[in-house]
Amino acid sequence: MRIFRFSEIDSTSDFLKRKDDKRDYDLAIAETQTHGRGRRGNNWVSQKGMALFSFLLKVEEDISIEEYSKLPLVTGIAVLNGLKRIENLDFKFKWTNDIYLDDKKICGILVEKIQDFFVIGIGVNINNSLGGAVADIATALTISTGKKYIVEDIIFTLLDEFKKQYKRFFEGEWNFILEEINNRNYLKNREITLVGSNWQTKGIAGDIAKDGRLEIITEKEKIFANIGEIHIKRD
Ligand code: BTN
Repeated sequence: MRIFRFSEIDSTSDFLKRKDDKRDYDLAIAETQTHGRGRRGNNWVSQKGMALFSFLLKVEEDISIEEYSKLPLVTGIAVLNGLKRIENLDFKFKWTNDIYLDDKKICGILVEKIQDFFVIGIGVNINNSLGGAVADIATALTISTGKKYIVEDIIFTLLDEFKKQYKRFFEGEWNFILEEINNRNYLKNREITLVGSNWQTKGIAGDIAKDGRLEIITEKEKIFANIGEIHIKRD
């Protein structure tokens, strides 16, 4: 595994995307990012003290693209389990792949595809402080425990856990992984709003289904939200 460390870079995910000679599990770690990216084209504000890293995963020919659509969920539960190995706190999985602690976001995950690789980018609030309006919606590990952490140790724990979960996924244990995800489902029974390109619908979130979609009970019917197509707003 090659490790590329930066005190500052535009984005660890973009660094890996630009690389000509890509290899499975190439890992880029940065102390800060000047152009950190989140999902749906959002910026990811990056500060020292966060775990900011991306790694490459080579596409396996015997896994279908449909199966790979579950990769954000597999990554999410891997990060959750990895964080739990560090501090046994009540982390929750927010579909599709955020991690929550104390009703606030502690980690965001961005899964992208380039050529025959996935680029998995992860940002976790660890030692950083969160001020102003952000403190209402986000938290950091240090806020919960008062401790300071060695960020790189955490990154290696999260990557180790990813490898374990990915192996299980690859070996056909999706049903067990899904059960763990549903046991930690932050949205379950919460009122949410699905936001599409030019519409929105309110409903109550249910379980995550076998195909990775989120079950939502609206006033009229039960519907399933597709990974990546829908933005969910908590009311
Ligand atoms: C989100 O919650 O919208 C996803 C955020 C992902 C942020 C990480 S930080 C490391 C990697 N580099 C990036 O530019 N983005 C991801």
